[in-house]
Amino acid sequence: MHRFLILNWKLNPATYKKAQQLLRDTARACLRRQAAKKIKQTTVVACPPFQYLCSFIYHQSSVISHQSSVISYQFLQFGAQDCFWESNGSYTGEVSPLSLHQAGIRYVILGHSERTRAYGETDEMIGKKIIAALQAGLRPIVCVGEDKHTHIRGKRASMLFVTKQLHNRLYQCSKFSNVMLAHIIVVYEPSWAISTVSGNVSDDPADAAAMIGYIKDQVSHMGLSSIHEVLYGGSVHAGNIEQLAAYTIIDGFLVGHASLYPREIQTMIAVCEKV
Ligand code: PGA
Repeated sequence: MHRFLILNWKLNPATYKKAQQLLRDTARACLRRQAAKKIKQTTVVACPPFQYLCSFIYHQSSVISHQSSVISYQFLQFGAQDCFWESNGSYTGEVSPLSLHQAGIRYVILGHSERTRAYGETDEMIGKKIIAALQAGLRPIVCVGEDKHTHIRGKRASMLFVTKQLHNRLYQCSKFSNVMLAHIIVVYEPSWAISTVSGNVSDDPADAAAMIGYIKDQVSHMGLSSIHEVLYGGSVHAGNIEQLAAYTIIDGFLVGHASLYPREIQTMIAVCEKV
């Protein structure tokens, strides 16, 4: 089956030199399997910080071709970690979805819980960003997921929390055609499971799969059944991806910390390719 492996570098690494090396290693992990005709069904999307992203896009052949003679980007796409809802105007510090698309970027992560928690991004803002991204030709990767407080209150509370986020963030999307809607990718990424480095652990694979099934049902009830790709995120790494990937209802993974380690990436691609 086809799966997405979205690599969210967050604000890493600290220097451009290290970022170039990480990109090379990531490309090599894809190329190696591709050369062996083994990578067939995984779309790998690298999402570096903005300051590296544009440079990579403009100089990608020289960055990636360092040690590889045959280059294909078919399995390594680029994504941004956020974008604004306007394409131009007096918006200091914002990034236009149209300019991202024109630069060759095809994906954008929206509504990540680190942005909602730390910078007060609201559902309304996320909804506007989703619409602007779609109109600009980007594929929005829309994060939803309950916080720790809600998680402790049980499954029903978590389901209600996620339902509310889906409605508030996606309700304006019903005006789009089915073809456009199919560009939206949803990620179930409970914030309590994010960041292995802070000591958090991934959701139980069966519970994650159940919530993803629930999200697919909810989206369908909202009349948005053309949105059919729902991924899981939150402390995914080489050591647990196999258990998660056993659930075919999970259409891929959004990976943070482990995306900074080439060996982890290789293993995660290998697992996605196996199932
Ligand atoms: P993590 O982060 O894999 O480090 O938990 C996931 C994310 O926030 O995208």
